Amino acid sequence: MDPKSTLVIFSDIHSNLDALERTLGRLKMMEITNHKKFIGIGDIIGYGPQPKECAELVRDFAVHVRGNHEKYLGMEGKIRGVNPHAVQAIELTRGCIQNNGDMLGWLTSLPEDFIQSTPKGFKLRFTHYAPNSDLGYVRNKEEAAKAFEGVADDTTITFVGHTHQPALMELRGDGKADFLPGQDLKKHFGWENPITLDPDSKYIINVGSVGQPRDGDPRASVVLYDFISHEIKFLRVDYDIEKTQEKIREAGLPDHLADRLADGK
Ligand SMILES: [Fe+2]
Repeated sequence: MDPKSTLVIFSDIHSNLDALERTLGRLKMMEITNHKKFIGIGDIIGYGPQPKECAELVRDFAVHVRGNHEKYLGMEGKIRGVNPHAVQAIELTRGCIQNNGDMLGWLTSLPEDFIQSTPKGFKLRFTHYAPNSDLGYVRNKEEAAKAFEGVADDTTITFVGHTHQPALMELRGDGKADFLPGQDLKKHFGWENPITLDPDSKYIINVGSVGQPRDGDPRASVVLYDFISHEIKFLRVDYDIEKTQEKIREAGLPDHLADRLADGK
């Protein structure tokens, strides 16, 4: 993969500055530093202790789309139908960014998706939820097939987040859908190895989560896509989980939000 033709797609930072900084540091070591090629696909804030710092750090990157937590942030009055831990973190976020210029307006008015074409003529779509799926969750081949029904004919790759679980979904030329969750990706390819995509297939790629992975691996997750070689790579990045757990407790957020980081669940 060539750093010059590599896009970085990340999601679900969830106010975890330590994970974000380590991820950016790792990309820098790989000479991937052109932030115009970085695409954030939602949930910058929520759950973690440092929403302001995370939002300030990623704001200058070229593109972001809105996640459900940015949507909650924009809800007037009491937030209904959302788990109480998420509500508590949204209240913390409001307190942290209320005097931060137009940060609240920026976060809450992000677009729902972003579309880009590659020099090779592949159309990419970036959005928070998997298409056509029950709250963005795709857990097997059947649900992957249903998700592909929601993908426009001309779109080659749809990058999504939301579940915090990396996955590769493929719709082959023969109409069959495949679903590879994180443990299968690890088994078949190993993390960090480039995966060459078939130019005749369509893909939905879940990039996992930077700040609160839930696939049993607590390391931050991010995906690289080389738009010339048509390859992707899932990266996993270690960070100081205990430090973030301490910050979560100090911020008065529920213990569960700290505990789950160590389990990656
Ligand atoms: Fe999320």
